[in-house]
Amino acid sequence: MRRLVAETRIHPAQLVLPMFVAEGLSEPRPISSMPGQVQHTLDSAAREVERAIAAGVGGIMLFGVPQQKDAVGSGATDPDGILNRATAFLAERFGDATVVQTDLCLDEFTDHGHCGVLHGDGSVDNDATLERYADMAIAQAEAGSQLLGLSGMMDGQVDHVRAALDAAGHQGTAILGYSAKYASALYGPFREAVDSSLTGDRKTYQQDPANRREGLREALLDLAEGADIVMVKPASLYLDVLADVAAASDVPVWAYQVSGEYAMVEAAAERGWIDRDRLVTESITSIIRAGADTVLTYWAVEQAEWLQTRGIGARS
Ligand code: PBG
Repeated sequence: MRRLVAETRIHPAQLVLPMFVAEGLSEPRPISSMPGQVQHTLDSAAREVERAIAAGVGGIMLFGVPQQKDAVGSGATDPDGILNRATAFLAERFGDATVVQTDLCLDEFTDHGHCGVLHGDGSVDNDATLERYADMAIAQAEAGSQLLGLSGMMDGQVDHVRAALDAAGHQGTAILGYSAKYASALYGPFREAVDSSLTGDRKTYQQDPANRREGLREALLDLAEGADIVMVKPASLYLDVLADVAAASDVPVWAYQVSGEYAMVEAAAERGWIDRDRLVTESITSIIRAGADTVLTYWAVEQAEWLQTRGIGARS
């Protein structure tokens, strides 16, 4: 009866797997703060994508971990940079079976770790960064990315990247705006995952966790600029913002269950303090219940496989 009257169900196609592909590895490297997640080689990434496709997962979101970094993040726009190479490699093999998506942000590629290029005084130069994002967007589209995840939180980024893509003939490449992205402590494990060089914080461009209205405002701005999908991030602590955005948006609304959300559950489960599998499903169910059409989650494949073997979303 509970199953019959359940208001929310998880479908594998509404789960997206974020993946890290690192340059210069001979085998996958575990990420200690994200047990079960690794920095991939191209080959191990391909195996994981095959598993994701078999489980019915809706897509993969790629992050690159380069060996060399510099002030402007040159590796991000180089067709031979690790993210563009991994995108081409995976899109060619799997682009018809799944949606290959890429993170569009400079932070993995800059030696200072910020999401943009800097002014002389060390602050982020919003408009100069937009030019780098435009070049990065074209490089990613040419590598075969079907959906660009604009996670850098520069003002005007959706509008600027859309215009650059269109002018370069990439009208079919879609834009996911990380519209309401909060300056969160929950990104900690991710910074290990991508060997981040950041010192300091991102408070001049990511949002204040205190602000709910501002989250909606950021999403409405991205909609006006032409975002094909808008996102709220992190997910679990921001379900109010997610519900607001879902009520106002006329395009799909996604949420990113981030590295810290993953790590907290894994750590407590490792100590035997919580029922891991139940909590994973409960957390994803709650994010969908609040209004997400799709969830980026490091548990995407595992949750999708449970749906295949156990048949139903809520494992309770
Ligand atoms: C920025 C980016 C970050 C995450 C996704 N894209 C890190 C940040 O803003 O510091 C975090 C994702 C996670 O924590 O799982 N390119």
